[in-house]
Amino acid sequence: MDPKAILSQMTLEEKAAFCSGRDFWRTKAIDRLGVPSVMMCDGPHGLRKQEGEGDHLGINKSIETVCYPTAAALASSFDRDVMRQLGEALGRECQAEDVAMLLGPGLNIKRSPLCGRNFEYFSEDPHLAGEMGAAYVQALQGEGVAACAKHFACNDQETLRMSGSSNLDERTLREIYLPAFEGVVKKGKTRSLMCAYNAINGEFCAENKLLLTDILRDEWSSDAFVVTDWGAIKDRAKGVAAGLDLEMPGGPNATGEEIVEAVREGTLSEADLDRAVLRLLTFVKDCVDQRRSDATIDRDACRRLARKLAGECAVLMKNEGGLLPLQEGRTVAFIGEFAEKPRFQGAGSSHINVPHAVSALESAGDAVVYARGYDAHSDATDAALLKEAVEVAKRAEVAVIFAGLPDAFETEGADREHMRLPDNQNELIAAVAAANPHTVVVLHGGSPVELPWLERTPAVLCVYLGGEQVGAATVDLLYGRVNPSGHLAETWPIRLQDNPSYLNFPGEEGVVTYAEGIFVGYRYYDKKDMPVNFCFGHGLSYARFEYADLTVDKENVTDQETVTVSVDVKNTGSVAGKAVAQLYVRDVESAVRRPVRELRAFEKVALEPGEIQTVRFALDKRAFAYWEPRCHDFFVESGEFVIEIGESSRDIRLSRSIQVKGTVELPFTVTENTTIGQLLKHPRGKEIIGRMIQSSAMSHVDQTDSMGEGSERMMQGMMMGIQLGALVSYGRITRQQLKDLIASLNA
Ligand code: BGC
Repeated sequence: MDPKAILSQMTLEEKAAFCSGRDFWRTKAIDRLGVPSVMMCDGPHGLRKQEGEGDHLGINKSIETVCYPTAAALASSFDRDVMRQLGEALGRECQAEDVAMLLGPGLNIKRSPLCGRNFEYFSEDPHLAGEMGAAYVQALQGEGVAACAKHFACNDQETLRMSGSSNLDERTLREIYLPAFEGVVKKGKTRSLMCAYNAINGEFCAENKLLLTDILRDEWSSDAFVVTDWGAIKDRAKGVAAGLDLEMPGGPNATGEEIVEAVREGTLSEADLDRAVLRLLTFVKDCVDQRRSDATIDRDACRRLARKLAGECAVLMKNEGGLLPLQEGRTVAFIGEFAEKPRFQGAGSSHINVPHAVSALESAGDAVVYARGYDAHSDATDAALLKEAVEVAKRAEVAVIFAGLPDAFETEGADREHMRLPDNQNELIAAVAAANPHTVVVLHGGSPVELPWLERTPAVLCVYLGGEQVGAATVDLLYGRVNPSGHLAETWPIRLQDNPSYLNFPGEEGVVTYAEGIFVGYRYYDKKDMPVNFCFGHGLSYARFEYADLTVDKENVTDQETVTVSVDVKNTGSVAGKAVAQLYVRDVESAVRRPVRELRAFEKVALEPGEIQTVRFALDKRAFAYWEPRCHDFFVESGEFVIEIGESSRDIRLSRSIQVKGTVELPFTVTENTTIGQLLKHPRGKEIIGRMIQSSAMSHVDQTDSMGEGSERMMQGMMMGIQLGALVSYGRITRQQLKDLIASLNA
C-alpha cells in the first residue's frame, strides 16, 4: 500500500468522506483502491472491544478481558517498567483481537480532586505524567499497535466537558497542561492524539490551529494524526484547516459534504485536506504492515501481570509503630464491603468487562473474619452493620477497613460534588478505630479524599483503582509478601477548600478560568507552605532507604549543556524493597514567580537489604527553564539552581547548588512607560541608567540619610517606579534627550 499513490487517485468526495469513521470504532475502507478499514478501541487499562453495538459511554457490552490498574494507580508506581509491561501486554492483546489502535493514555492534569475522570489520568505533575505516558506508548507501539494520547488538551473536568472553555494563560498552558503531551509526542512518538471536546480560550480543540498545527506539527515536529474525541467536531472544514484528520465516530451520515463544499468555495485548501488524508492513509498502511495475525493472548498470564502491577502501584501512606505488615497467625478482621466487592475501575468509556474481580476477602481466605460494615450504595449508616463491625473489630488483634469512593462518585461525564468519603464510611472508620487501636484503612478511589479520622488510624494503604486483581495485591501488601513501593502522584490536601482550583472549579457559564496558573498541586501547597495530609511523592516501604554522595559532573553550565547528577541509594532495612529517588530543581532567585521546587527526574530502584545502587539523572535546559511569553519559548534565567534529592517533595534528603547561565537574552523594548526599576534589570539599561543616576540629581538616595530608613526605602521605591516619560516633567531631561535615550536603549 502506497499512501501517496492512493491519495493521487482519490476523488475530492472520497478524500472528504475518508476523514470520518465508518462506525463507532472503524475507519472507512476504500475498496476500489485496496484501503482496508481498521479498528480502534477504548483502553487504556484494558481493552474495551465492542463486537456488538458500539457506544462511547461504556454502556453496551464489550468482550470479557482483563482490567489492569487505572492511570491514577499506575502513576503511583513511579516506574516506567510497569508502564512498559502494561503496554506490551495490551499491545499483544490488541494484535490478537485485530485492534489497530488503543485509545489512550489519558494525559490530562489532575487539577482538582473533583474531576470525575481523575482515575483515568496520571498526576498533578506534567513531568511524571509525560514519562509514564511515553513509556506506555513506546511499549504498546513496539507491539505494532498505535497509541492515541488523549484528551488534547486542558480537559481537566467533566462539567460541560463537550461545550466549555478552559481559559488559561500561555505560561500555564506550556508549563503545566502541555508537557505531558509533549513527552508522549517527542519521546513516546505516539502515532495519534485525540483532541479534547472543550475549547481553550474560546477556540474548540478540534478546530484549534495553535494546538493541532503550530504546536503539534510545527514545534514538536510530529506526524501523528489527530482524531476527534467522539462527537467533538463542530465545524468540519475549520477542523481540517486547523490540522484535524479524523472525525469519530462518523457513520453513514458523515459524508464529508461540508469539506467538499468548503474546498469548492475556496474556504478550505485542498492541500490541507490532502495532508489529513495522507496522514490517515499512512496510519492505515502502518497498521497493515505491523499486523500480526498469528498473535494469541494468554489471559491467565495477563491476570498474573495485573496482580503484580497492582502491587507496584499501591501507596503505604502511614504505618505507625510498624503495624504493617501483618504477622501471619494474628487474628485479623476485614471490615467494609469493598473487602468483598472491591472497587477497581471507574465508569465510562474506559470500563472493562471482567468476568471476575478478585476480592481481598477471597484472597485472604480463612486467615480473616469479615464484617460488611457499610452499604456501598448508600451514604447512610446502617446501625446493625456498624454494630457488627465494631464487635468483630474488638475481637480481632488487627482490624483492616476497606473503604473508598463508591462507583457513583467517580465517573466520566460527572464531577464529584465534594471531596469526602460517604458519611457511613467515615463513621465506620472512626468507630472501629475507637474500638481497636490496631486499625488499618485500605483506600480505593481515583483521587484524594478528606481523611477526618487520620490521626486515630495508625496505618493507611491507598490502592487507588488497582484493576481486577486489586484484592489479591492488597493481601500481598498487607502481609508483606510484596513490599509497598508506590509514591503519591498527587498531593492529598486536608480539605477541598485548600486546593488551588477551589474558587474556579468547575467554572461558570461554560468557562473555567485556571486562575491559579502554574500553581497546581504541590507547586501551590509548597509555595503557600501549607499543611497537607500527604504530599506529592510520599510513600512508605517496609524497608528504609538512605541517600548519599550527591554529585554533579559540572557546577557551572550554560543552558545548552547537560548536567549529569548521581546519587547513591542504600536499603538500610531488613527486607528487599524499591526506592523512588525523586529529583527536584529549585530556582533560588527569579524575576518571575516560580514554584518552590519542581520534579525534573525520578528513578525507581530495587534493593536487597544492605544493597547500594548509584542512580544517574541527566538534566537539560528544560530542567531549569520556565515558559517566557516575551520570547514564546522556554527560557533559563541565569543564576543559582538547587538540585534536590528526596523521598517525597517534602522529604528532601540531599541538595546541591549549581550555576546555570541562560544563553538567550529576552527581547526588551524601552518605551516612555518603562520604569527605572525595569531598566535596571536589563544589562544595557542598567549601564546607561547607572551612569545617569551617578551624574545627575536623581541620586536623591544620598540625601536621605537624615530622613531615616523608612524614607530611604520610600525614595528608593519611588525612584524605581518612575517611568522614563516622567523625567521630562520632572525637568531632568528634555523631550529630545528622552527620545535619544529611548532610541539608544532600543538600538
Ligand atoms: C471519551 C474518550 C473515549 C471515546 C470513545 C469519549 O466520550 O471522552 O475518552 O475514548 O469517548 O469511547
